[in-house]
Amino acid sequence: MPIRPILTYPHPVLRQKAALVTNFDEALKALVADMGETMFAAPGVGLAANQIGVPLQVIVVDSSTPGHRDFMALINPVISNGQGSVFDEEGCLSVKECLAKVKRFQKIHVTAQDVDGNPFAFDAENRFARIIQHEVDHLLGKLFIDHISPLKRSLYKKKLKKMLEMEEI
Ligand code: NI
Repeated sequence: MPIRPILTYPHPVLRQKAALVTNFDEALKALVADMGETMFAAPGVGLAANQIGVPLQVIVVDSSTPGHRDFMALINPVISNGQGSVFDEEGCLSVKECLAKVKRFQKIHVTAQDVDGNPFAFDAENRFARIIQHEVDHLLGKLFIDHISPLKRSLYKKKLKKMLEMEEI
């Protein structure tokens, strides 16, 4: 189960809309396993397939309980019935050195398929709901910095430009 490199903003694949998964095959299982490893190694609490350059509707979310590391894979996830709203801090493995407060639904309903194609549905709240909303945004080509003010976003772009220049030296 290899750890895959995580692509970072402004890589164009992060802006691509991910395609619906129609083949629930061994390749999909391998992708999901790699995504889980990659997320935990980062370390992160969620990862979308396009962050590793695979524009398919696949996300993984940390579902660990104390003493037991585990993750949940959501294939073709759809969010509905968003309720309430909460402002809280977010970061992203694909957006280096940036944390910002983003408004999300407090509670959502999620429908998805598992790696074998079986449909399932559940309600998510608070932090878990936030992570799912962040990851589903990735599949739509959206990043959390799209939700922040234009001023904050332009400050971040300037900071990123400087960071990238330093890397080139
Ligand atoms: Ni992210």
